[in-house]
Amino acid sequence: HRTLRVALLGAGSVGSQVARLLLEHGDDLAERSGASLELSGILVRDLDAPRDVELPRELLTTDAENLIVGADIVIELMGGIEPARTHILTALNSGADVVTGNKALLAAHGAEIFDAADQVGASVSYEAAVAGAIPIIRPLKDSLAGDRIVRIFGIVNGSTNFILDKMDREGLSAEEAQRIATDLGYLEADPTLDLEGYDAAQKAAILASLAFHTEVAMEHVHREGIESITADMIEGARRAGFVIKLLAVCERLPGADGEDESISVRVYPALISRDHPLATVHGGNNAVFVEAEAAGPLMFYGAGAGGVQTASAVLGDVVSAARRHIAGGVGVGESARQSLPTAEIGRI
Ligand code: NDP
Ligand code: HSE
Repeated sequence: HRTLRVALLGAGSVGSQVARLLLEHGDDLAERSGASLELSGILVRDLDAPRDVELPRELLTTDAENLIVGADIVIELMGGIEPARTHILTALNSGADVVTGNKALLAAHGAEIFDAADQVGASVSYEAAVAGAIPIIRPLKDSLAGDRIVRIFGIVNGSTNFILDKMDREGLSAEEAQRIATDLGYLEADPTLDLEGYDAAQKAAILASLAFHTEVAMEHVHREGIESITADMIEGARRAGFVIKLLAVCERLPGADGEDESISVRVYPALISRDHPLATVHGGNNAVFVEAEAAGPLMFYGAGAGGVQTASAVLGDVVSAARRHIAGGVGVGESARQSLPTAEIGRI
């Protein structure tokens, strides 16, 4: 086997699990990748911070430049815009394939990153960026590439679903539920990203861009969060036969009288009938419904957040990146979609 050097940026909820699985399952991953995956180092802020997972001390580093340059695959699990953006661009420009779970970065700077990757013939994969462990990016990008998607809707944020569910089913306060969700590693480092719907909006922008072969910017996503949902509202909804869920909806809207069709992307707390499958999405789970012209309705369901669950999606991307890397970088660049006509984006 050839050996590929894998640099990991971040050892938090997700990164520490990715490191553990890379180290524990090295032989299996090598078998599936066609290359030994050598974890060359792990970038952290604080070498002495307590960690959920015990990691070999000699792998931890605060020297980003040295770690990234020389890596064949760089996994970014730091979160936030900077320095994640700079590190990813450095990785691409030094010939590495990149795997990331950073929806905030992709929603804000996806075009720049995918362009940079295309220019050097590298790949950027991001299955973990939307809906945690659920395979949804690759199905949209590959399996459904021959179909015409008309609508995607569902629950794409695990922490707010966990909070609303605990309030509904166990009568917990929003604060109590949020504390448990934090312990489970579901929330972003800045929890307002989850509570105010930014995280779901970033994921909706990524899904809509992929599904409709265009670029949906964050400012075009209508966003409402759950910060003003009270226990009384949840109780009132329950008595009326509903449950409150934070929904993301991405859809094509037909153009009136020969006008072009447009796209609507929105995130908002919605009343869901208790009979609807979305009402049974409990805890940190997510569910994404895709409606395509030929395929009809499809449903994707599973863990939407959590360190080890999300690590599964990251490692799937790492295996693909390794296969691609040893095959000499075969594949179509993500930025290919930018040559397609961009639809008008509207709100309804
Ligand atoms: P955490 O906040 O738990 O971990 C972040 C890690 O990155 C920490 O190890 C931290 O170092 C390191 N880090 C952050 N900033 C810097 C910096 N400037 N220099 C060096 N190291 C840095 O994040 P998560 O693991 O929860 O999330 C990581 C990414 O995955 C995010 O983009 C998130 O949106 C995404 N994601 C998370 C999911 C989840 O369930 N948690 C699910 C799906 C995606 P130190 O430990 O020293 O502080
Ligand atoms: N904070 C995110 C969520 C993590 O709660 O869904 C998974 O993307």
